[in-house]
Amino acid sequence: MLIRTRDNGFEHPLSSEITPPAAYQNRRQWLLTAAAMGGMASWASRDAWAQAASVTPKPGKLAALPGKRSAVDGAMTMEALTSYDDVSSYNNFYEFGTDKSDPVAQAKTLKPRPWTVAVEGLVNKPGTFDLDALLKLSPMEERIYRLRCVEGWSMVIPWVGYSLSELIKQVQPQGSAKYVEFVTLADPKQMPGLRSNVLGWPYVEGLRLDEAMHPLTLLAFGMYGEVLPNQNGAPLRLVVPWKYGFKSGKSLVKIRFTDKEPRTAWNVAAPQEYGFYSNVNPEVSHPRWSQATERRIGEGGGLFAKRRQTQMFNGYAPQVGQLYAGMDLRKLY
Ligand code: MTE
Repeated sequence: MLIRTRDNGFEHPLSSEITPPAAYQNRRQWLLTAAAMGGMASWASRDAWAQAASVTPKPGKLAALPGKRSAVDGAMTMEALTSYDDVSSYNNFYEFGTDKSDPVAQAKTLKPRPWTVAVEGLVNKPGTFDLDALLKLSPMEERIYRLRCVEGWSMVIPWVGYSLSELIKQVQPQGSAKYVEFVTLADPKQMPGLRSNVLGWPYVEGLRLDEAMHPLTLLAFGMYGEVLPNQNGAPLRLVVPWKYGFKSGKSLVKIRFTDKEPRTAWNVAAPQEYGFYSNVNPEVSHPRWSQATERRIGEGGGLFAKRRQTQMFNGYAPQVGQLYAGMDLRKLY
């Protein structure tokens, strides 16, 4: 996401030590939770990763969060995984700074426990969910998704979580609910980036209700079989794989059901550049650059890096194309 800065992403990201002992201590509580979730399927698919990946996954040392292999259509791309080091050290999380290397360096101050998510608005059963309740709400699944950033790079990431629809079903949206707003944490004590006015805080995103209900829309608590590192949106975030990465809000604290299209952080900051839908679309250029191709992080090559053709809906057209039948995707970008 770029308003005032330039993408200098052609440099290979720094490989950082991502789990200092203090952070690891904070996660000990997670181990207890994972252990308490005895009914969860054993995480048999680490082998599947090894087969799927030409890059050996290298998880950090956070608490284990296993998930059974997902049966959701489209949820398990067999493309090579991006390395754990790249996924956890090349991030966009403006609450911790605007450089790709800022979140891994700064996000140690984020406290992912205790944590609650308020669910409110046009639902019959509003409420505040504690993280432990959310962890137990539905069985965890492993999903291997492509994430395509609007800046022109992509990654392949094995997430752990479950469909957001599982939570939505529990709160029972009313007939008038048409959209879902996602509000993320904005605590200046934990997030030094809030001192900057690069965006209006909190970071807010939104989906149409049918998009939010789509089985591919993931409420993610982990990646690479472990709880999320802070810089990737601990303790829980959204992952909407057919949309540009900025639709996938990190560190969620509120989910609100509305009858009006939510005003999203990037749409408010630069409406001519970032629309509400933000579906990955190689045919609709960003006003300042083409979206036809992308660079896969970790493939190397510097300035001469191989670029891949970007696919419509990031390759998830068979699963989600029908949601947009009859819409002019040039206008509703
Ligand atoms: N969520 C919050 N709260 N703040 C952010 O700055 N950046 C978004 C999205 N979610 C962002 C956010 C953008 S632009 C992208 S590409 C993805 O997170 C990046 O996720 P990753 O760092 O885990 O790859």
